[in-house]
Amino acid sequence: MKDKIPSTPETIMNVLGIGTDIIECLRIAHMIERHGELFINRVYTPHEIRYCQSRKQATQHFAGRWAAKEAILKALGTGWRKGISWRDIEIRNDPGGKPVVGLRGGARDMVEKLGIREMLVSISHCRSHATAYALALGAEVPPTPKRKELLHAARLSMGTSLGVAIRAP
Ligand SMILES: CC(C)(COP(=O)(O)OP(=O)(O)OC[C@H]1O[C@@H](n2cnc3c(N)ncnc32)[C@H](O)[C@@H]1OP(=O)(O)O)[C@@H](O)C(=O)NCCC(=O)NCCS
Repeated sequence: MKDKIPSTPETIMNVLGIGTDIIECLRIAHMIERHGELFINRVYTPHEIRYCQSRKQATQHFAGRWAAKEAILKALGTGWRKGISWRDIEIRNDPGGKPVVGLRGGARDMVEKLGIREMLVSISHCRSHATAYALALGAEVPPTPKRKELLHAARLSMGTSLGVAIRAP
């Protein structure tokens, strides 16, 4: 990544946006029932469709991705009106199952405009609901002299473990 500031216990993670969403799985099931492939192909990328359809509880995974896309949109702070389509946001899973966000088209343009370097997402689902939480991160910020001073004072009064609580290395 360009111009990356080396992480130290003092660098500040620059949170540019957060977003969350919750959806009833039944609502997604009804959309699929009513609109079939028209709905699925409008909202999900081919990779997402393959992933969800390969799982036993496909609807829950579709609902999880719906919630993730809405949460990411909230973290961007934009609406669907700003030229972003559902398929501009893709959720993939790493080999351990962790969801990873891929952005393209209008979503990618917006991320670049806002200076977002990384978009993190977490998804959860059960029979009734799916929920997701997204975090938009900008470039790490170097510590200001004032912040260094405050951290130093806090460590002195509360012990060195506070440094870990403030920012994990
Ligand atoms: C991650 C874990 C806690 C999920 O909890 P759960 O209660 O079973 O399921 P939830 O509905 O809350 O969450 C499911 C979502 O968790 C996310 N998830 C799965 N593995 C994850 C991981 N390693 N890290 C972060 N998120 C993960 C996925 O987005 C998944 O939804 P998706 O498959 O639709 O993308 C559980 O699956 C677990 O302990 N996994 C350990 C990792 C593992 O066994 N990996 C096997 C391959 S190495």
